[in-house]
Formats: sequence, C-alpha cells, structure tokens
Amino acid sequence: MYEKIQETASWLREKMPCKPTTAIVLGTGLGRLAEEIQVTLSIDYKEIPNFPVSTVEGHSGRLIVGKLGERDILAMQGRFHYYEGYSMKEVTFPIRVMYELGIKTLFVSNASGGTNPAFSIGDLMIITDHINLFPEHPLRGKNFPTGPRFPDMHEAYDRALIAQADAIAAEKGIKVQHGVYLGTQGPTFETPAEYHMFRVLGADAVGMSTVPEVIVAHHCGICVFGVSIITDLGVDGKIIEVSHEEVQKAANAVQPLMADIMREMINRN
Ligand code: HPA
Repeated sequence: MYEKIQETASWLREKMPCKPTTAIVLGTGLGRLAEEIQVTLSIDYKEIPNFPVSTVEGHSGRLIVGKLGERDILAMQGRFHYYEGYSMKEVTFPIRVMYELGIKTLFVSNASGGTNPAFSIGDLMIITDHINLFPEHPLRGKNFPTGPRFPDMHEAYDRALIAQADAIAAEKGIKVQHGVYLGTQGPTFETPAEYHMFRVLGADAVGMSTVPEVIVAHHCGICVFGVSIITDLGVDGKIIEVSHEEVQKAANAVQPLMADIMREMINRN
C-alpha cells in the first residue's frame, strides 16, 4: 500500500506545475467551485496509476490542479464511496497521496439529510464533529507512520477554520448552521426510524461520505474544514421520498454560497 501511494504521488508530482498546500474534495452536486479554478492540470482518475475509478452519476472523477484566486490548489472532483464497493483503503487512498504531495489543509463538502429539526433544505452546515458509523475503520490494519496508532479525535475539524468560516459567512450575510455529521455506509437513504435513531445518537445530519477521508487526513496531520449541504430532511413529520436526483438538485441550488465561503477561506489561508 505504502509503495502504491508513493508511486502515485511521484507520478503526479512530475506532472504538477506547482506545489499546492490546500486541497478540496467536492461531493455530490458540488463541482461548481472546481469550475472557478484556472486549471493547469486536469487528469481523469482512470489515468492516475493506482487510483480507484468513480462510478456514480454526478461524480465526474477528475483530479484538478490550478489556481483559485491567488492560491495554488488541488481539487478532487468526485470522490470514492464505500457503498460503491471500494475498501476503506481505496476510499481514502487519494488523501494519503495528498499528504505525500504536501497538502496541509483539506476542504471537504458533501450532501446530507438533516436530522436537526431546526434545519431546512438548502441550509449549509459547517461540520463541527462527526460520528463514524461505517462498518470498517479506515485506519484498521498496520498503522501508517503518518500518525499514532490511537489517534486523538477531539478536534477533527479545525476550530480556527470554523471560526474563519463563521466570520466570512457573517460578512457575506450567508446563513450557516453548525452540526455533527454522521457517516453511514448507504446506499439506502434512511428509514424514518433510522433518521430518528441517528438524531437520538447526536447527529444533525447524515450522509454516506466524508468521515473516512477526514479520519485519514487527521491522522496525517492535515487540518480539515467541512461543509454539508442539507438536501433533504430526516426529521419526524417532515420525511418525504428522497432520490439521488433531488439531492443533486438541492445541492446545485446552494453550491454558489458554499463556493463563496470556501473560496474566501482558501484565499485567506
Ligand atoms: N441520508 C444519507 N445520505 C444522504 C442523504 C440522506 O438523507 N441526503 C444526501 N445524502
């Protein structure tokens, strides 16, 4: 595994015209920010040695290097999900490669179902913490020397970055929520009883991604900032049928606001 990570990192390093220290992972319906990047290098995942290939509709699967404003940036347009059948090592492989490439700060985004009754569809939720309910842990197995065997998780989402996002949102008049993201394997959306259970467990939102990547990034000492777009509601009395298309549509509608916050953060960091 370690050799594969090195191999992929050196393959990319040779092609990269700059050495970004910031990376973004763009989730469902959130590719818009990538369109603002002045692209100097764009590679389909399928061309990258050892990279898994993304299969889900709405995830285009490209690694992009370029400038966002004044900053060099590495962007993953599309991610790998556990429900697609990848192992946790595969899901988090790109994050390990990012670490090898010198990434210090990671911005992640996703779509999720809101379980907090105060949330509405289209809300942006800054992720303050997470609950890992994936059936396999991404750090299971021989420990990587990037971090300790038993990593501390008391601040998986960097507080300084959260404070900065709050300040930017206030300046721009963008309403943001804060909350705990619960990661579960999917691919089913939740039954009403499951949404209820996740709420009782302490979740404000539930989704099928992000948690594995954040755990590995944190283990590598990468600072993480995460935003979740609330695309549907898993709140008693408000639960209606949900589809991937609707999730994408709702995410599309709010992504300019998310992009506004992330762009500004990236430029200030
Ligand atoms: N549940 C799980 N994942 C999701 C949801 C949801 O309600 N919405 C978007 N991704």
